Amino acid sequence: VERKATNIHWHEGDVTREDRARMLGHKGVTLWFTGLSGSGKSTVAVALEKALAARGILSYRLDGDNIRHGINSNLGFSAEDRTENIRRVGEISKLFADSGVVVLSSFISPYREDREIVRRMHDEGELPYLEVFVDCSLEAAESRDPKGLYKKARAGEIRGFTGIDDPYEAPTAPELHLHTDQMTLEEEVEMILSNLQQRGIIS
Ligand code: PPS
Repeated sequence: VERKATNIHWHEGDVTREDRARMLGHKGVTLWFTGLSGSGKSTVAVALEKALAARGILSYRLDGDNIRHGINSNLGFSAEDRTENIRRVGEISKLFADSGVVVLSSFISPYREDREIVRRMHDEGELPYLEVFVDCSLEAAESRDPKGLYKKARAGEIRGFTGIDDPYEAPTAPELHLHTDQMTLEEEVEMILSNLQQRGIIS
């Protein structure tokens, strides 16, 4: 994105990211949950947050529905608005990860290019970033339909609904791939925790 401001200068502090990691006992990271509406993104994030808290690890959830009530309340679901939604929450995730938090970001984030932008932001900031594909068939997501949105989309009451009349571009090389219609929630949480341990992000 083109930067409009000029004459701006980055200001370094005296407390480093490493200092913060020492204080907390773990590193910051962004776990980016992507998947269809109703695939289980938020469910996994909520369960993982609880498991991390039980281990004394500070995490924080960022969630599409919630964020769209606040900082992104001026955005809808057009391709441009989704891209801006993901750009902003990508930057917010990056700030939280830099602060030392284990960030759990759950957004449909249907466009591959938008997700790659978020990955690049983290790479440039030398912050760990893990894409978690919350994979669930459209049939399974639609049969769950926790908010009744698929029903509305099928009835033509919602236009541009992901998976129905708007695209979802599945990840091709996610760090973690959860098949939520085949695995239990406990197995999914366990898989993520051991991956974080293997990477030396948590102990
Ligand atoms: S996106 O595509 O990443 O910008 O979307 P996100 O911020 O994650 O918001 C998705 C939630 O918004 C509700 N909703 C819709 N989703 C997809 N398409 C359309 N048209 C739409 N309209 C409303 C829906 O509740 C999504 O929540 P989840 O938790 O994914 O089911």
